[in-house]
Amino acid sequence: MSADRLSVVTGAAGVLGAAISRRLVTAGHRVIMMDMAADRLEMEAGLIGDAVWPLAVDVADPKDVERACATICHRHGDADTLINNAGILSNHKIEGTSPEEWRQLLSVNLDSAFYLSRALLPAMRRQGFGRVVNICSLAMKTGGLTAGTAYTASKGGLGALTFSLAREVAAEGVTVNGVAPAYVRTPMITEHLTCEQRRELVRQIPVGRFCEPGEVAELIAFLVSQHAGFITGEIIDVNGGLHLD
Ligand SMILES: NC(=O)c1ccc[n+]([C@@H]2O[C@H](COP(=O)([O-])OP(=O)(O)OC[C@H]3O[C@@H](n4cnc5c(N)ncnc54)[C@H](O)[C@@H]3O)[C@@H](O)[C@H]2O)c1
Repeated sequence: MSADRLSVVTGAAGVLGAAISRRLVTAGHRVIMMDMAADRLEMEAGLIGDAVWPLAVDVADPKDVERACATICHRHGDADTLINNAGILSNHKIEGTSPEEWRQLLSVNLDSAFYLSRALLPAMRRQGFGRVVNICSLAMKTGGLTAGTAYTASKGGLGALTFSLAREVAAEGVTVNGVAPAYVRTPMITEHLTCEQRRELVRQIPVGRFCEPGEVAELIAFLVSQHAGFITGEIIDVNGGLHLD
């Protein structure tokens, strides 16, 4: 493994993506921050400072991902770490979900992880070291409590992709894991749920509060470290005891 770590974090202009990028920089990584919200991305990258490079990419577009990965390789070298974090939420249940919305959720939340893994895994395998972490969700294990049908299915698919890739690349020093957070204090919670829903949820979460973005980032920093080489194909819950399995 090279001491010089290079990570790609998708959805990096979002609350969780920015927290993950910041934490990886603290761990000594250079970080490519990818997001389609170019202005917000520039701002978040500017706040972190050195060692991050913002790259405006629509991760649901395979051609855009291919171009972006070629640019990264050309300018920075081979990435050894990939955090598939970009995601969108819909709380619509089956009858309220149009085929267009279904496709959009699946494209952003699942297809993107396939495109990026397909582009970046070959170099990790050649190097004999790599780390992939997919940001899944409690929704995949519970049938979605407040989350909708397409979101829940997309995260279930991401979990299955995690298992499949973990098995495919384990022998080459590459681990692939998932993290399944629930109710992290981000706009997904503050803007998509009513005050009443938020109050009721805090009452149900045994730890008695929402999760902080930094708590998820801390777990990811461990999973991508060299200390976690024997953990692969695992989906780790970060849900304050809301769901125990
Ligand atoms: N917040 C939670 O409680 C929670 C719980 C479980 C899982 N998650 C997952 O964590 C991840 C991050 O969520 P967050 O809460 O930080 O949300 P967020 O909305 O703050 O961040 C998501 C980011 O993804 C980006 N994005 C969306 N579509 C994109 C595309 N096509 N190409 C590139 N970037 C795109 C957005 O611009 C945004 O910056 C998501 O995958 C989400 O499903 C969040």
